[in-house]
Amino acid sequence: MTYCDTIGVMDSGVGGLTVLKELLKVLPSVKYVYLGDTANLPYGCKSKEEILFFNRNILNFFLTLGVKDIAIACNTTSALTYEDLKEEFTPKGLRIFPLIHSAAYNAVQGLDDNDCICVLSTTATAKSGKYAQEIKKVNPTLKVVEIPCPGFVEIVENRLYESKDSYNLVKEKMQIVLDNNAKRVILGCTHYPYLVDLLSEFAPKEIFFNPACSLAKSVAAVIRNTNAKGDIDFYVTKAPDEFKKSAKLFFDIQDDVKCVKMPEFSLK
Ligand code: DGL
Repeated sequence: MTYCDTIGVMDSGVGGLTVLKELLKVLPSVKYVYLGDTANLPYGCKSKEEILFFNRNILNFFLTLGVKDIAIACNTTSALTYEDLKEEFTPKGLRIFPLIHSAAYNAVQGLDDNDCICVLSTTATAKSGKYAQEIKKVNPTLKVVEIPCPGFVEIVENRLYESKDSYNLVKEKMQIVLDNNAKRVILGCTHYPYLVDLLSEFAPKEIFFNPACSLAKSVAAVIRNTNAKGDIDFYVTKAPDEFKKSAKLFFDIQDDVKCVKMPEFSLK
């Protein structure tokens, strides 16, 4: 089967569904192919070389399907490998939409000079400094505190919302937000919108910014709705049933939806 007029959405797991949800609001009549690289998650503690290897496999897979427009629904990929992917795959006909680059401008709207903005993200994204870099381009006076949150992705993927350890981990990270008197908190990993209820036990819900909305708008600015029915094919590299269970808590995914287990991309 080949897919035309289709948007490919990629992440390490269920996180990218927070982006797909926003895409469906602005582009409901498009066909989507979602790929969760569940065999290799979490990406956030891996090296750039490893992530690039996984990303290349994913984009080559989209190419074999004939999918040409790709939303990178993963901050870690956007932070570490977007520039490399763009250089390699644009000549092959892919159009790639990254997350962080489209979010920075919207994330700082309404903030005053010298305000503090915190970014919760994976370790790899925090280390890259990409959010600070993009935000400073918009307003160099802002104080940007990037907070690595290893363990958050596992809470979401394994549905550990009720556990005491999850509560304590979220509390520890939110204490840094409170200590910095942050006026805004970017959910700098696409898994984190699943944690908003837990996060907002420590700060008002309005403070949190979800970059997915910005990415969806930037895609909708150049892609039109087609006559497609907005249906979605799911592909994962491991454990499709687990993927569906975790996805269900946030995304309206039916039991009988097509979720194909494809071969793993393994470095070994
Ligand atoms: N959801 C991805 C992100 O936005 C990756 C999380 C992970 O696999 O560590 O960074």
